[in-house]
Amino acid sequence: MLRCPDHFAPNGYEKMNELDAIVSSAQGAFAQAVTPADLENAKARFLGKTGSITELMKGMGALSVEEKKTRGAAINVAKQAIEAALNARRQALADAELQKQLQAEALDVSLPGRARGAGGLHPVSLTMERIEAIFGSMGFEVAQGPEIEADWYNFTALNTPEDHPARSMHDTFYVEGGSAKAPNLLRTHTSPVQVRHALQHVAAHKAKTDRGEPMPEIRVIAPGRTYRVDSDATHSPMFHQCEGLWIGENVSFKDLKYVFTEFCRTFFESDDLVLRFRPSFFPFTEPSAEIDIQFQSGPLAGRWLEVAGSGQVHPNVVRNMGLDPEKYIGFAFGMGMDRFTMLRYGVNDLRLFFDGDLRFLSQFK
Ligand code: DAH
Repeated sequence: MLRCPDHFAPNGYEKMNELDAIVSSAQGAFAQAVTPADLENAKARFLGKTGSITELMKGMGALSVEEKKTRGAAINVAKQAIEAALNARRQALADAELQKQLQAEALDVSLPGRARGAGGLHPVSLTMERIEAIFGSMGFEVAQGPEIEADWYNFTALNTPEDHPARSMHDTFYVEGGSAKAPNLLRTHTSPVQVRHALQHVAAHKAKTDRGEPMPEIRVIAPGRTYRVDSDATHSPMFHQCEGLWIGENVSFKDLKYVFTEFCRTFFESDDLVLRFRPSFFPFTEPSAEIDIQFQSGPLAGRWLEVAGSGQVHPNVVRNMGLDPEKYIGFAFGMGMDRFTMLRYGVNDLRLFFDGDLRFLSQFK
């Protein structure tokens, strides 16, 4: 279109051009708005209370009726054009926002799923199950005792009175409860379960019979957690023991030898295994022995490995079980379950059992 130079233009044309300029400046401003807030600010500049279109409307008061008509209609056209541009931009911004959101939440259904790995038992738990199964097959039941133990069960009842030097070998963690002289403690071994279980066994037998029937033998193992102030590659402040106890009227050291030898050969699946009962001392047994084992083949062949303490239950302990030591006799042993686990799987650092590292643990599934 040919444009007249401004100074020739009749009033109407000049004003039209001004309106066109406002419309295109609004379109430009809307196009530049990248957020809804930008867009609303831009809108205010044209359609707001002091916006350019509103100002033009206000200025119409001074015009003649005829002029008002044309002028009003022209301003309206411009206003509609601005509103159309505004709405179009609003829609475009909303579409873009939706698009962005859809992209962010996009699911790639072709990706392989994240499998939930099957869990497995801890190697020490596997050992515990194995020990329970083997002794179970020899007629032993399984008993449990508390990990926070009374001084009496942990020491005194086991023939370790208050000033006995053997107590210092069992440095442990004392906890609130019990008496000032004999506070409760984290049990230093599973041996207190011997006395707890025997007392229950005797009481249950007494409750059942008043005709002097013979008491069934006590044959029990007690696996569980134990605690001592000790920490290095082969000692942990928390570790696992399994106690064993067999009391009857005629149970002797030779039964201990037979039972424990059978157990070890079954546990390690090897007849090629020798045991040695090495004289030792425990307050709760007399005589006492450390049990060492030796593999005749394999990577550990030829070395004596200490695996348990044992002995014939001391008469004082039998008495504390509520039994007459003249009539009842038997043996006990206490073995380290962590040790058995290390030997079975060839693990050389005890701490691996307690680190919770799945690269280690998942090898036992
Ligand atoms: N309780 C002992 C310890 O932790 C091990 C032990 C030795 C248990 C001889 C027994 C036993 O039952 O007869 O060192």
